[in-house]
Formats: sequence, structure tokens, C-alpha cells
Amino acid sequence: LKLFADGANLAEMRAMYKNPAIAGFTTNPTLMRKAGITDYAAFAREVVAAIPDRPVSFEVFADDLDGMEAQARIIAAWGPHVNVKIPVTNTQGVFTGPIIHRLSSDGIVLNITAIMTVEQVAQVAEALAVQTPSIVSVFAGRVADTGIDPIPHMKACRAALHGRPKAELLWASPRELLNIFHAEEAGCDIITATSDILAKLALVGKNLDDYSLETVQMFHRDAAASGFE
Ligand code: E4P
Repeated sequence: LKLFADGANLAEMRAMYKNPAIAGFTTNPTLMRKAGITDYAAFAREVVAAIPDRPVSFEVFADDLDGMEAQARIIAAWGPHVNVKIPVTNTQGVFTGPIIHRLSSDGIVLNITAIMTVEQVAQVAEALAVQTPSIVSVFAGRVADTGIDPIPHMKACRAALHGRPKAELLWASPRELLNIFHAEEAGCDIITATSDILAKLALVGKNLDDYSLETVQMFHRDAAASGFE
């Protein structure tokens, strides 16, 4: 399982790049908005300069399929390791399959994003060119937010990618560190996680008696800081 860092904070991305365990990066317009980015191309130039040799996904933002395709071709030229994120539908629910097919057939490495259902994965698999690498991002965390167990769901997504060996299944929108283990169990190739979740990797294998003690000490410190007698 490869670990990707999800975010749009350049300083954080630079710090993550120093960690060889981070095999790639993903961004999206919502993360860029949160990071206060207003000049997309300038931001992308800085990211590509800072991360020259690992995959970075940048998303198209047009809503019509022709516009998406044109943006995808521009974004793909930003760097040799740039992956182009294409949402599985536009805002009206129109499947982006035709442009996925054209771009992928032209050798552009796509990251199909905002996927929730196994049926969408099957349709995307059908649209992707067999010979071109790609990433299929299923928002397992958002699926789990609806009360569905994401592990069997992701296993079914894995099965739906049968026939597209160059398509990597990505567990997107993890909600906790445990999802890294879940993604592995489900047979995913990649998980992308925000820095708050990745920071918890430091806790893996921690002695739970020590952790219990530190927690009690935290309560004690905070009670004292609140002036409780
Ligand atoms: C993946 O590439 C997405 O950027 C991300 O995982 C979305 O996460 P969210 O569902 O928490 O917004």
C-alpha cells in the first residue's frame, strides 16, 4: 500500500516530501480554497518544483466535458509526474466516461475522483485505456459517513477493476489512521490522507499503558490549569 499526502498547503507538502514514506500527493479545489490559493497555475508550478519526482494529482475545475478535457491536457503538461484528476461526473451528473477514454487513450495518467459506487468503478474501468496507468479514487470515508462498511465496499471496487491491471485503487477521504490498515485489507494500492491523519502514524505500536498514563496526566494538568481545587 502506497501512502499519499492529501492537501494544498505548500509548506506542509514540502515537509511531507522529506519523508520517503510519502509516495505521492493529491490536492483538490476544496483543499486549495482552505489553503487560500487563488492562482492555481502559480501554485502548481511551486508544487511541481518542490516535488519533481513523485506523482501529484491536480484536478480540473471546468464543468462541461469539452472544457474539462482541454484543462486536463494543460494540467498534464505541468510536469512529467502530474496526474490529472477528473471527477467521475460533472455537477449535473453527466458521466465523464468519453473524456476519460480519450485522455487515457492518449497516454495521460488520470486520477478519477469523487467515486462512491461500485457501478461507477465498473464504468470508469470500461472507459480507461488498458495500457495507460491510472488512479481510481473511491471516497471510502464519505461512503462510511453514510453508514456503509467501507471495507467490503472497497473489496467490491477492487473486483470491479478486474481487466484494468494498470488502474490503481485509491482509498480517498480516510477518517482515521485505522483506515490505512483497512485499505490494505481491502486490497487498495494507495491511500491518500491529510496531515492530521498522517501525524498519527507516530502512534502506531505505542505502548497503551504509557498512553493511558499520559492521558490521565493530561486530564490532571488541564484540571489544574482550570483552577479546580
Ligand atoms: C482525494 O483525493 C480527496 O482529495 C480527498 O481524499 C477527499 O477527502 P474528503 O472526503 O475528506 O473531502
